[in-house]
Amino acid sequence: MLALASDHGGFQLKQEVKKHLDARGIAYKDFGCYEESSCDYPDVALPACDAVVSGECDKALLFCGTGIGISMAANKVNGIRACACSDYFSAKYTRMHNDANALCLGGRVTGAGLACELVDIFLDTPFEGGRHQNRIDKIAAIEERERSK
Ligand code: RB5
Repeated sequence: MLALASDHGGFQLKQEVKKHLDARGIAYKDFGCYEESSCDYPDVALPACDAVVSGECDKALLFCGTGIGISMAANKVNGIRACACSDYFSAKYTRMHNDANALCLGGRVTGAGLACELVDIFLDTPFEGGRHQNRIDKIAAIEERERSK
């Protein structure tokens, strides 16, 4: 199960990606927004990211105008490793090296065709583990330090 969320700037792209996921038979839950009127990306990022951290969903696909604002909000949630992405290499390596669990796409940056290919790469590329796990553990240690402040 994937968690999806967008603000108004990413709404149309999210709709296109949903059609692509339907065609692949991949289940998702849409945490909003549900129409194109203006909303704030942190409000939709939070429930989608909570669903990933709780285990209800495996990964999140997040959308705003640039993919950047919603990635900033997502990365504030402990346990989320979100990547704002518009190229194949980043989509692949953020899985292989960062074990990213949220892909953030920009509806004003990335066309639907490319976005769906980035989603496929993101979903189909495994984490390499090994030396990269040590770095993920250090990110978690930063979260722990912030929690204890
Ligand atoms: C909304 O206008 C826009 O600022 C938002 O979608 C996003 O691009 C922010 O990073």
